[in-house]
Formats: sequence, structure tokens, C-alpha cells
Amino acid sequence: MNQLSDGLPDLNLPNAAQEAIKNFLSLEATVGVIGLGYAGLPLACCFAESGFKTVGFDIDSTKIERLKDGRSYIASISSQRLSSLVTAQRLLPTSDFDGLSSCDAAIICVPTPLGEGRTPDLTHVVNTATEVSRRLRPGQLVVLESTTYPGTTDEVVLPLLERGGLRVGVDFFLAFSPEREDPGNQKYTTRTVPKVVGGVTESCLKVAQAAYARIVERVVTVSSARVAEAVKLLENIYRCVNVALVNELKVLFQHMDIDVWEVIDTAATKPFGFSPFYPGPGLGGHCIPIDPFYLAWKARQYDFTTRFIELAGEINQAMPGYVVSRTMDALNAQGKTLKGAEILLVGVAYKRNVDDVRESPALAIIKLLETRGARVQYHDPCVPVLRSRHLKTEMRSIPLNSEVLRAAEAVIIVTDHQDVDYRAILAQARLIIDTRNATAPYRDGTHAVVLA
Ligand SMILES: NC(=O)c1ccc[n+]([C@@H]2O[C@H](COP(=O)([O-])OP(=O)(O)OC[C@H]3O[C@@H](n4cnc5c(N)ncnc54)[C@H](O)[C@@H]3O)[C@@H](O)[C@H]2O)c1
Repeated sequence: MNQLSDGLPDLNLPNAAQEAIKNFLSLEATVGVIGLGYAGLPLACCFAESGFKTVGFDIDSTKIERLKDGRSYIASISSQRLSSLVTAQRLLPTSDFDGLSSCDAAIICVPTPLGEGRTPDLTHVVNTATEVSRRLRPGQLVVLESTTYPGTTDEVVLPLLERGGLRVGVDFFLAFSPEREDPGNQKYTTRTVPKVVGGVTESCLKVAQAAYARIVERVVTVSSARVAEAVKLLENIYRCVNVALVNELKVLFQHMDIDVWEVIDTAATKPFGFSPFYPGPGLGGHCIPIDPFYLAWKARQYDFTTRFIELAGEINQAMPGYVVSRTMDALNAQGKTLKGAEILLVGVAYKRNVDDVRESPALAIIKLLETRGARVQYHDPCVPVLRSRHLKTEMRSIPLNSEVLRAAEAVIIVTDHQDVDYRAILAQARLIIDTRNATAPYRDGTHAVVLA
């Protein structure tokens, strides 16, 4: 009997599960989302807009104050959208974790960075699970959404939650459901991207399925939390490996005087068996450069080497260096040196139309350029100020005008934001290093453009 399609209770499930399912399907449940960043804030808004009373938890009190004032810090969530939810008290931001006891679901969206030697750093997940376990009560659903290696939900989160004596699948429910947020994507929203859910037990799966059924168009259930964890890693590794492949081919084809973008776009006319991926200056963001190494680490426990992941990481990490060496060669060809040259970067975000600079290849490129004696400035319509532990000092975006473009010995297009005047760059820059083929629609063969 399918609880979700016929509305009747599944009598094979424990009472607490039946109650929880009823509560979620009737929207009477209160949902807590923990970690209100790029992944958690859109999710919390989605729960609130679907009719759930939603409590948003974060340890960063500055973020909580901003949210209480209805001021968003995530580009995809407008302050107007946020403030209407906060004013109507449908979304309650707080740093007080005692509020978790009033929640029927605790959904964990905290960071999962890499530690020393590219090993998983689960500190945030462990801290959050510990906070949840202190207030765990019968009937609650806990879902881990942070990207991590298969086994984290069962091996790390579950033991913390069971410390108080409550039993999983009977008293409380635990599942993994990966975040599939794609910042900057106008086509898909949290609601329209299918939600993958894997439970620690069958009743955990059913409860988690009910919790998401009201906020997304489609819930895809899998046989376990480990499968759901592996699904997310496959998605990201697939992207990482394919980007590495086209990055390698880009370098080869540049030696052969073949335009890799033309090759990819033409191959993409084949209606089956080929998905286009595009080369660039290297990978960035909180996901693709990091997540594959969670699996590589776990694989070592099975004496297994994930060669594709290591190779893709090596190729993608070499790209910023490649961009800088192409810039040096192009300057040399004009009888100039990189040392002392004024270089303007266009775009420092890790991808188009977002304000996120985490792990952005622009950071490595700036560092390499500065180490070689170049003077670097940048323009980015989405990133007014650039701060990073990878940089010695804070930098500020400068306006893109004739004076700036003419003054630069080279303009390196690192991010292909929509709101950049590529025609003006082509018309005025002395040398353009284009890592995204952003100038393609406007080039006519007369411009000094080097694809890198
Ligand atoms: N950014 C994305 O587009 C994206 C997409 C898919 C998956 N993910 C995954 O989602 C997870 C979160 O990533 P993100 O990009 O949202 O990170 P983020 O840094 O933007 O946000 C995380 C938030 O969690 C808060 N936090 C940290 N520890 C906490 C704790 N103990 N209790 C409460 N709050 C805490 C931080 O203050 C921060 O606001 C990661 O595992 C990431 O891999 C992110």
C-alpha cells in the first residue's frame, strides 16, 4: 500500500512513522533546516513557501540578523521573497538550537569541506548531529543533505542520534537526501529538481518521502541512505571527469590549431550518446573540486584507488597554470613580459552569473600572476569585493570602461557572466585571453584573442 498515493496509512509501519507521515502530508509539521547557506537557505524558503512552518538554524549570528531583517545574502533568493516569508512568520531564522525540539524534521545542510591531505572534514556534520541528538524526541525525522561519502549517515550520524536510547526506524527516522542546487540556473528551481531520498530503514524512507512530497514535484526513492549518498557523488564525479576530459582535449587541440568549442558544439548535434561539457580555467565552487575526494578517501578503506578521480583532479588543477602560461606566451609574442604587466581579470566567480568565489580558479590565477610580477585588477558585476584566504589582500571590482581596458596589457576572461560588455572588450583591449569562449558571438577574426 502506498501511503503517499492513496492517502491511507500503511499499517505495516510503526505508529510513530504513520503519525509523522500524516503530519508532513497535512503540512502540520514544523521543519527545521540547519545551515542556511547556498544549499540550506533556498531549501528553507521552499519548505516555508509550501506551507510548512519553517525554522532556519545557523551558527553564524550575522547571517541570522540579516535574515531576520529580511535581507538575503544569496543571489538566487531575493530580499523581497525572503522578507515576505520572515514577516509572515513562515520562516523563523534563529541561532538558538533549543528550537530544534519543536521541529518535526531536522534537515542538515552544513558544509563538508576537505581537511589536511584532501581528507573529509565532517566537523560541521558531527557538531550538528550532536546538537540534534541532544534534543531528539520520538517521531522526529533527521535528514542529512550535506554532500559526503557513502556510509556517513549510517556510520557517523546514526550512532550520535542513538546515544540517547531512541531506536532508528521505530522512534525516530533518519535519511539522506542530496542537495542538487545549481546556483545561477534559471531553468530549474528547488521545486522542479527531482529529490533523491534514501532511508536508513524502510520506515525512515517513507517518512522522509512524505516530508519532501509537498515541496518538490518528484521524489525519487532509493534502497538506502548509502545509495543516495553515492548518487550525489556520481553526479559530481561525472561532471568533474568530463570537464577534465574536455580540458585535456582543449590543450591538445590548441596545439593542433583546432577550436575545441567548435568541436564540442558540433559533436552535440548528435541526438544520442553525447552530452556536451565545456573547458575552462579550472573547477570551482563548494562541490565539484571537493566532493570527488570524499569518495577517493573512502575508497582507500577498501584498498581501492579511484584513478579517474585523481587524474581528473590533476588535469583540472593544472588549468589555472595553463591560462597563465598562455598569457605569458601571448605577451612574449608581442615583445612584452608578464613581469610588471597590468592584467585585468574579467570575472572572478567560479561560474557565470553567481557571486560565489569559493575555490574559484580566478584565485589561483591571481596568485600565479602576482607571483610572476604582474599587477592584477578585476572586474566582476557579481563580486564587488574579493576576499579569500588564498589572497594576500582584499581586492575590489573596478568598472569596465575604455580607460581600464586600454590600460591593461592583457584582459583575461575567467568567468563568462551575462552582464559583461564583451563587444567593448573586443573593441578596446590590446590582448584578450578568453578561457570560456565568451567572445565567440562577437569575434570577426580581426581581434587579438587567445583561447586558453
Ligand atoms: N552550494 C551549492 O550549490 C551546493 C550544491 C549541492 C550540495 N551542496 C552541499 O551542501 C552543503 C552545504 O553547502 P553550502 O554551499 O550551502 O555551504 P555554505 O557555507 O554556503 O553554508 C553552510 C552554512 O552552514 C552554517 N553552519 C556551519 N556549521 C553549522 C552548525 N554546526 N550548525 C548550524 N549551521 C552551521 C554556516 O554558518 C553556513 O551558513 C555542503 O555539503 C555542500 O557540498 C552545496
